Amino acid sequence: MKAIAIIPGTVGTRIVDRPEPSITSPDEVKVKVKRVGICGTDREEVSGGRADAPDGQKELVIGHEMFSQVVEVGTSVTRVKVGDFAVFTVRRGCDQCAPCLMGRADMCQTGNYKERGIRGLDGYQTEFVVDKEQHLEAVGVLMEPLSIVEKGIEEALRLQAVRSPEAAITPAWIVGCRCLVAGLGPVGLLACMVLRLRGADVFGLDVVGVTSARPKWLNVIGGHYVDGRQVPADQVDKKIGPMDLLVDASGIAALEFNLLDALALNGVYVITGIPGGDHPLQIQGAELVRQLVLDNQVMLGSVNAAHGHFQMGADDLFQAHLRWGAHIGALITNRYSYSQFAESVTHHSPETIKEVIEWA
Ligand code: BGC
Repeated sequence: MKAIAIIPGTVGTRIVDRPEPSITSPDEVKVKVKRVGICGTDREEVSGGRADAPDGQKELVIGHEMFSQVVEVGTSVTRVKVGDFAVFTVRRGCDQCAPCLMGRADMCQTGNYKERGIRGLDGYQTEFVVDKEQHLEAVGVLMEPLSIVEKGIEEALRLQAVRSPEAAITPAWIVGCRCLVAGLGPVGLLACMVLRLRGADVFGLDVVGVTSARPKWLNVIGGHYVDGRQVPADQVDKKIGPMDLLVDASGIAALEFNLLDALALNGVYVITGIPGGDHPLQIQGAELVRQLVLDNQVMLGSVNAAHGHFQMGADDLFQAHLRWGAHIGALITNRYSYSQFAESVTHHSPETIKEVIEWA
């Protein structure tokens, strides 16, 4: 079968032939891959950045945002049957620490986890995949990026419920809260969607024209676009006012620090964007720490997601469909065949939101 592979640490991709996997234990599920999303992590991997091949191999099959249909199940599998649609999650735990043993590999404490298509395990840009039933979740290709968003926002809201007297007694604390999401790629726009579903007043910051695809998508769900070329992150507070919750999905380290200027007293800031490269950055250390302490602020990083976050994502996608209908599917702007992967992963225009490879 065909697969798209990279050699970690080098630039470029190749189409390779791999043996079709088969079920070898009763708890495994075999799926036919239907489509696989492309994200910033894939782009970093193909440009020689963060990625590791499986032990003893040179190549890594890329891809971690998948959508597939079950074609065969092992004898002990109960949650899916042939013909069901499903996604496999990304991370596989170390099986040593408490979080991994509790099914929370996203919070692995040893750092010895693996990730399909990213770190030490082949990914999903291929025709068939076999994995264990325990790593299976239901529904579409937006589930993986949405699970990242669900985890980050849930962590931020839970922290507020512990820290803030109003948030502790008001389950609807987020309603009307001023939230800014930076970086309106798929993760950023899905964060805007989740926050709108929770009733927040949502601002989305990017550096594209107001009439381009991402600001337009944001507008339809009731968010306000902030053009970072006119209102840079460190002017947001002055020009638009302070934000109770910040979500970063930009992966640009300088912006990630500058955004702190927009955070309100007692605010919470969750970072999901993973910067590539190693450009040194000058930050005003004392000023930054002083602000965090004197303004009672939290800045937290959040990566990967647990099964519960996929479930929350499925519920939110359902709600979003009820509210905005086909607009949600319009997040997928470009569909390519696997032979166009190299071109799609390197060209990224302001008119594209989510790009996917159609396998079947
Ligand atoms: C993926 C996560 C993964 C993270 C770190 C992200 O792009 O969506 O599942 O944990 O990269 O590798």
